[in-house]
Amino acid sequence: EFHEKPLAVSFAHDGPFGKFDRGQLQRGLKVYSEVCAACHSLNLVAFRDFAALGYNEDQVKALAKAWKTEVPTINPETGEPATRPGIPADKIPSPFANEVAARAANNNALPPDLSLITKARADGTAYVYSLLMGYRDQAGYKNAEGKELLKEFPDAATPAGLHFNPWFANLNIAMANPIAGDDQVTYDDGTKATKEQMAKDVSAFLAWTAEPKMENRKSAGWAALGFLFIFTVLAWMSYRTIWADKK
Ligand code: HEM
Repeated sequence: EFHEKPLAVSFAHDGPFGKFDRGQLQRGLKVYSEVCAACHSLNLVAFRDFAALGYNEDQVKALAKAWKTEVPTINPETGEPATRPGIPADKIPSPFANEVAARAANNNALPPDLSLITKARADGTAYVYSLLMGYRDQAGYKNAEGKELLKEFPDAATPAGLHFNPWFANLNIAMANPIAGDDQVTYDDGTKATKEQMAKDVSAFLAWTAEPKMENRKSAGWAALGFLFIFTVLAWMSYRTIWADKK
């Protein structure tokens, strides 16, 4: 078993009281839009959903319009497929026209839609972080138990075009290291864009795309517990009253 468990990493939105860190989500959006969106779509997220990260209507419109991939449509005159600039109601498009084009550009692998990826993998937010931080040189790589893959299985060398990443389920991934070094993006809030910071921010952002209403779920949970507590007290008091004269 050479496949590694997710790295220990913590987020502002962890735990029963955790809330998303809006600044972090905005930074994560920046990493997603400038790095990941070159290959991955967010089919379940519309530009207008980014208002929840703290952008106003004009900023959302500008973001949709300036998105690096235009939105697929049909030319009304010719009936031919065409593209147009995004509007707030559009979902975040795939940069590829179709699956054939996506595979052709990615060594025959298909970059998955990332909307729900943090739910689709165990411990998904930490998994995405680990995957991004997990590109390794296969030669000499030892897993947590100190076992060296190439010594135990000499035929397991990573094929050309794939990349060794012991956090990926089958160890060899078609995605090249998307966050290979520091300062790949420039953050608007002045945060230093280290590799760790970018990986963490985009992981938090993908936790948000998969569950934008997480905070409501948590507060509804606390409200339900409060409700149960009140009714437990009332039930106890009723019990005392009903049986008060019985000895
Ligand atoms: C797969 C995240 C950038 C191409 C994946 C997976 C994740 C991911 C979570 C799924 C792994 C799994 O199945 O468990 C990201 C993030 C990126 C990014 C967060 C930006 C920081 C890119 C870029 C490309 C790319 C720029 C293309 C140049 C692919 C491909 C796969 C993939 C081809 C499928 C890999 C396989 O099945 O072997 N990515 N990605 N990704 N990504 Fe990315």
